[in-house]
Amino acid sequence: MTKLVVMGQGYVGLPMALRAAETGISVTGFDSNDAVATALAAGRSHIGDVTDEELAQGLATGYTATSDPGCLAEADVIIVCVPTPLGEGGGPDLKAVKLAADLIGALVKPGTLCILESTTYPGTTEEIFAPRVRTDRLTVGETVFVAFSPERINPGQTTYLVRNTPKVVGGLTPECTRRAAEFYGRFVDAVVSAKGAKEAEMAKLLENTFRHVNIALVNEMVRFSHELDIDLWNAIDCAETKPFGFMAFRPGPGVGGHCIPVDPSYLSHRVKAMLGYSFRMVELAEEVNTAAPQYVVDRVADELNKRRQSVNGAKILLLGVTYKPNVADLREAPAIPIATRLLTLGADVWFHDPHVSKWDVAGRTIEPVADPYAAAAAADLVVLLQPHATYDLAALADSGAHVFDSCGAMRPGGRIVRL
Ligand SMILES: NC(=O)c1ccc[n+]([C@@H]2O[C@H](COP(=O)([O-])OP(=O)(O)OC[C@H]3O[C@@H](n4cnc5c(N)ncnc54)[C@H](O)[C@@H]3O)[C@@H](O)[C@H]2O)c1
Repeated sequence: MTKLVVMGQGYVGLPMALRAAETGISVTGFDSNDAVATALAAGRSHIGDVTDEELAQGLATGYTATSDPGCLAEADVIIVCVPTPLGEGGGPDLKAVKLAADLIGALVKPGTLCILESTTYPGTTEEIFAPRVRTDRLTVGETVFVAFSPERINPGQTTYLVRNTPKVVGGLTPECTRRAAEFYGRFVDAVVSAKGAKEAEMAKLLENTFRHVNIALVNEMVRFSHELDIDLWNAIDCAETKPFGFMAFRPGPGVGGHCIPVDPSYLSHRVKAMLGYSFRMVELAEEVNTAAPQYVVDRVADELNKRRQSVNGAKILLLGVTYKPNVADLREAPAIPIATRLLTLGADVWFHDPHVSKWDVAGRTIEPVADPYAAAAAADLVVLLQPHATYDLAALADSGAHVFDSCGAMRPGGRIVRL
């Protein structure tokens, strides 16, 4: 039976490991954080998208978790899903990738397939990962096989999971690609072979840059549409009826999470470092999307002003403070700069989020409210930031609250104003 070790048991590595285990592969989830590994081995999931029941099923069908790297010596396949946060200077911090690769290099047996999935700039697999994995004793493409396969998981949505999201693979040699494609083909419905590792790395950054740039496009358009009294939301609905050549993106309070606002800068950082010039589309998208939270604050001030109120002293309720709907992740959430600015202007800020119980912003604790609809009715203004599925937007409208809908989830009119 094939022995797979998945290094890093977070948002990406855990679902991947459990999906492979489902198909009869013997899977060890290795995590350098002993508390994470111990909890998983005891059946406690720390990832919102993986329930304890799903984990229990995995534990019953060939999945184990450990913080002991000894498992790497036995592995036929190793998949690396460790974090690549934003490092100094705009590129990824590759510390965890290097540590994982060094560990593999020290323990790997000949014949093993080693796949990097962590998001990074094109060239990382060849220049950083492979040299550490093969050390002096193995030859890539002959005695060890190295590939990159981008992770496309989308936390919080349930339609496209590991099995039915096509997997792109690119090896350092054609044999590396072939082996990686064959392996993923055992538990993923569709596998796409890239020309090489660099193309697979680039594919991931293209996907996220595409998203970043298109969100920036509508976030810029929404400003002048408002000034010109054009309903951009309606225009997007109309444009979306074109059956080809258009993909709808809608404005919002800003981009968040640790992928969309971060990954494109890995590419611009690489271009700058290698070639000395700028990737201008990414820089512009960053400028526009970074300014989106301030634009929300400006519009909030306008709304209060219309009612002869100032931000200073206004009771403002923020609804949904995570970076996107239906997740508990606060990383890079636009709610953070929005709350920070509102506090600086003297607002009395409250929040509700079904996924967040405690929220500290700029060194201050923002108080949660238990009943969002009752709190909405008592607030001077409600700012809807993320339309979590649990929100009853009709009840919010019926509460009589003044709502500034920054995400276009409510029907505008009366006391409901859209971005
Ligand atoms: N979360 C997403 O939505 C998403 C989507 C696509 C791509 N990615 C990329 O996938 C990678 C992993 O992201 P994530 O969200 O799963 O991170 P995460 O922080 O949820 O999990 C990473 C896990 O790796 C462990 N770890 C750190 N260093 C390690 C090491 N050297 N050896 C073994 N374990 C180690 C950590 O303890 C942690 O449990 C990143 O490169 C990220 O950019 C994430």
